[in-house]
Amino acid sequence: MHTLEHGLGLDHVASGKVREIYAVDDERLLIVATDRISAFDVVLDQPIPDKGRVLTGLSRYWFDLLDTPHHLISTDPESVPGLDDPDAVRGRMMLVHKAAVIPMESVVRGYLYGSSWKEYAAGGGPTTEHLPSGLAQASRLEEPIFTPATKAESGHDENLTETQARRYVGDDVYEELRKRSIDLYLHGAGHAAAKGIILADTKFEFGVVDGEIVLIDEVLTPDSSRYWPADAWTPGATMPSFDKQPIRDWLDAQDWDKAPPPPTLPNEVVADTRARYLEAFELLTGEPLA
Ligand SMILES: Nc1ncnc2c1ncn2[C@@H]1O[C@H](COP(=O)(O)OP(=O)(O)OP(=O)(O)O)[C@@H](O)[C@H]1O
Ligand SMILES: [Mg+2]
Repeated sequence: MHTLEHGLGLDHVASGKVREIYAVDDERLLIVATDRISAFDVVLDQPIPDKGRVLTGLSRYWFDLLDTPHHLISTDPESVPGLDDPDAVRGRMMLVHKAAVIPMESVVRGYLYGSSWKEYAAGGGPTTEHLPSGLAQASRLEEPIFTPATKAESGHDENLTETQARRYVGDDVYEELRKRSIDLYLHGAGHAAAKGIILADTKFEFGVVDGEIVLIDEVLTPDSSRYWPADAWTPGATMPSFDKQPIRDWLDAQDWDKAPPPPTLPNEVVADTRARYLEAFELLTGEPLA
């Protein structure tokens, strides 16, 4: 599923890069994960079949496993009042409590990679202020670090220094998000490690429901996290991403400036990527995607 007919019988309230959001009533939303995929922040034209079901299935798995207040009410389409065609969204929908979104991405890193490695290699930046010298790309960090970023309306998210983040959400909320995010990361990383997978870093979103801070959005999915096969981990090297690597490699080999429109993916690249998402689901949950 790439796009949805906005004819579910509910009011469509927003489209993200991957998800479509509908209003169920004043307190609840229906979040539907499509099969859209983005690479280098550009949404590609070809959907990855089953990707939306993988993201929803994994989020549900983690919401059940992580012992934390969260927004998920149900993944059963029959539980959504006013939904016209339950089969259109089965497996890819979440009925959730509508939250006042805290506009900060709560990123936790256990390894030095991506934008944080870039800052570090360039002499330091917001995410590296608490790191020692002498680390390499993909180095494991002594302790996971909390490196929040702004939730940009469009374009790239921007990493915040601790001072900026504290000013952005206030000291009390900052402390709570930091503690909750690091605990969740450690819980998830421990679980993944037992399956031979490294959770290198991940992004959480939180919102407020009835005065309480709850975990919202998707959680510990391949789209919100960097997962690496543990046996491929080599500090000092570039790491293959579990899921998007076939697409990134293929795009890198094209003459494309990373601005829309993106090139058309060959079928093999789509099939390879789909297999990677299904494999990530199966490895993490111990079950094939139903
Ligand atoms: N319980 C909730 N209440 C309100 N909004 C939510 C809730 N859970 C998730 N969201 C919001 O729904 C959207 C999910 O859509 P999607 O993941 O496709 O967006 P995105 O492309 O990541 O872009 P962005 O997060 O910047 O909107 C996010 O904006 C997220 O903040
Ligand atoms: Mg998102």
